[in-house]
Amino acid sequence: MKSVQWHDTHITILNQQALPHKTEYLELKNIKDVWDAIVALKVRGAPAIGMTAAFGLALAAKSYETNDLAQFHANLKRDRDYLASSRPTAVNLFWALDRLMKSVANATSVNEAKTTLIHEAICIQVEDEDVCRRIGEHALSLFQDGDRIMTICNAGAIATARYGTALAPFHLAKEKEMTLHAYACETRPVLQGARLTAWELSQAGVDVTLITDNMAAQTMKAKRISAVIVGADRIAANGDTANKIGTLGLAILANAFNIPFYVAAPLSTIDLQTETGDDIPIEERAKEEVTHIAGVNIAPNVNVYNPAFDVTPHELITGIITEKGIVSGDYKTKLPTLFEGVFT
Ligand code: MRU
Repeated sequence: MKSVQWHDTHITILNQQALPHKTEYLELKNIKDVWDAIVALKVRGAPAIGMTAAFGLALAAKSYETNDLAQFHANLKRDRDYLASSRPTAVNLFWALDRLMKSVANATSVNEAKTTLIHEAICIQVEDEDVCRRIGEHALSLFQDGDRIMTICNAGAIATARYGTALAPFHLAKEKEMTLHAYACETRPVLQGARLTAWELSQAGVDVTLITDNMAAQTMKAKRISAVIVGADRIAANGDTANKIGTLGLAILANAFNIPFYVAAPLSTIDLQTETGDDIPIEERAKEEVTHIAGVNIAPNVNVYNPAFDVTPHELITGIITEKGIVSGDYKTKLPTLFEGVFT
């Protein structure tokens, strides 16, 4: 099941807001459709947001009528900035858009640039599948048959090109006939854990148990959780990690129970330009996400604070699992070494 797919005249996305009740694909025909889909979380998860924005920029560029390269670049910059305004936290969005911009910096004609953009967006998607598989292999080396592993949000196949990041070891374990038990936190307010992770893992035949977010401590203790693994939206140069709201709480609990806490993410989520977690912009979303559940109002009309992400300080992270291997300890020194020989 592909989260996003390019088709010359449009893009299709799996509508993640309709899951788990309906498996529905939406056609995005122009840049506004793409922006709206990202903002409305119809496509979500850092790598999937990046891929969709990349396809969106390639789609927009395809419709430019000019043959003048300077005008082409001006239009492209305008549309890059528009797509970049959709969500602020996941750095994969900016990484993917800027990778497309760089790919055409030396284009010699508008036609060549249009073809290059499509090619580059497809490359991002193809590479992401391989990257996620490698993340899964590295993650799996940390786990043993029968382990009980907790996760939050959905860092799965539908949030990436395939396999996912934090969910990749569960998918790979299944391929290798190894048993990992997943404990999925429901992930209020938008319920990515209940609606998406529980669905994705059960579809894949992985043993998954759903809990509400406030059951995490009791579950860690009563079910003897072996490890926690989460995805990431942005990892700062010192290892501080922004991920779905609730992640910080799990990291603190894991620390209290002496349970390893892992972050699984591609290099495209590591932002060496952002020094620490304090510099990561945290998206705040509409109050209705908190006051309503599935469209039903559950709260009086009061003030609401709805940060979509939180930042886990690097000291609470046992290891960061990337496609290039696992780093731990002195992240500030070690994270840059992962980029040696990598196109940025
Ligand atoms: O608001 P969302 O659903 O886009 O948040 C997603 C997450 O926090 C994921 O854990 C993260 O993007 C990693 S997806 C592989």
